[in-house]
Amino acid sequence: MSWCCLPRSRKEENPYSNSIGGIYTEKNIRLFSYAELRSATDNFNRTKKIGRGGFGTVYKGTIRNGREVAIKVLSAESRQGIREFLTEIDVITNVKHPNLVELIGCCVEANNRILVYEYLQNSSLDRALLGSNSEPANFTWNIRSAICVGVARGLAYLHEEIASPIVHRDIKASNVLIDKNYIPKIGDFGLAKLFPDNITHISTRVAGTTGYLAPEYAWHGQLTKKADIYSFGVLVLEIVSGRSSSKSLLDDEKVLLEKTWEYYEEKRLNELVDPALGDYPEDEVIRYIKVALFCVQAAAARRPSMPQVLTMLSKPIRINESELTAPGYIHDYKTTVSKATTSSNSRFKTSAGSEDSNVFSTVVPPTISEMSPR
Ligand SMILES: Nc1ncnc2c1ncn2[C@@H]1O[C@H](COP(=O)(O)OP(=O)(O)O)[C@@H](O)[C@H]1O
Ligand SMILES: [Mg+2]
Repeated sequence: MSWCCLPRSRKEENPYSNSIGGIYTEKNIRLFSYAELRSATDNFNRTKKIGRGGFGTVYKGTIRNGREVAIKVLSAESRQGIREFLTEIDVITNVKHPNLVELIGCCVEANNRILVYEYLQNSSLDRALLGSNSEPANFTWNIRSAICVGVARGLAYLHEEIASPIVHRDIKASNVLIDKNYIPKIGDFGLAKLFPDNITHISTRVAGTTGYLAPEYAWHGQLTKKADIYSFGVLVLEIVSGRSSSKSLLDDEKVLLEKTWEYYEEKRLNELVDPALGDYPEDEVIRYIKVALFCVQAAAARRPSMPQVLTMLSKPIRINESELTAPGYIHDYKTTVSKATTSSNSRFKTSAGSEDSNVFSTVVPPTISEMSPR
């Protein structure tokens, strides 16, 4: 048997009861043996590797029933206790939605913590649309708008429709997987909790990826649904423009967001639109860009909720632009914090003075000044 479920009533039949310390979960979790995942990936062969992210390495594999899967071998920091690990897996397993990547099961043998997901044929949006080998022309406006709406639905579900809402923390193009019919599915939700609090991933590094990070989260660790909504806004701008937000950072030109706001103020928003789109319904595309601008506003409280975003995207409504304020950029926060540091009653005042470097090391996790895209 390639996997087993662990209902309470079948405790004595569970072949893993020793290896996992006799722990049982309320719900069924499909457990894979390490041997099966090793054979599914040809001994974790390099040729089967499809990517590496902040949580570990991902391999493409084929399990015994012939199904293709994505196998994520979590990095050492995730080696929390089996009980905690299974509790979180239980949560993720039970969060199901057409726009969320399905977690099929996991492996918790010895030190290994491995997740097995459904495999998405068209890879992730960063590769399929924004990558060097991408074919943006395949992404017509109908497909791009459906991707925006699908991601919005998945995120609205995580935020508003489950008993214990999940803030994703890492909405970005590489976490939007595309299936063979170009339906988007959000990956990596719920993973942050697999990394115990006292371990580097959470305590010294803000999860998320530069270019998508809401300033209040990057600088103060204020993590709310609104940080996801900010990242979603950046994602929509990438989908419409065909440009990666992190690439424009690296090129040392204006970041995508700054460029968009500049175009908005100059009433030239159509210049942002990906030329690969060919003909497109201008009113609708411009509405999408404006919705994205609402999502990335500096003041988190001004950003709409995901259900509101869904309404704004799906209906040809007239957007009240008098309510729209400028985007928040991470570097603005640096400036704000610097100013605050020089003021005598600032809560950011450092003991060593007001040098920027001191500000960095005082108010943000130490590694944030070295932020680079994952
Ligand atoms: N379920 C999946 N199906 C197909 N490809 C996947 C899947 N999950 C992840 N990948 C690929 O593996 C890469 C690495 O994924 P991950 O470890 O989550 O890192 P990140 O999300 O930071 O890129 C992704 O960019 C994606 O291209
Ligand atoms: Mg990912």
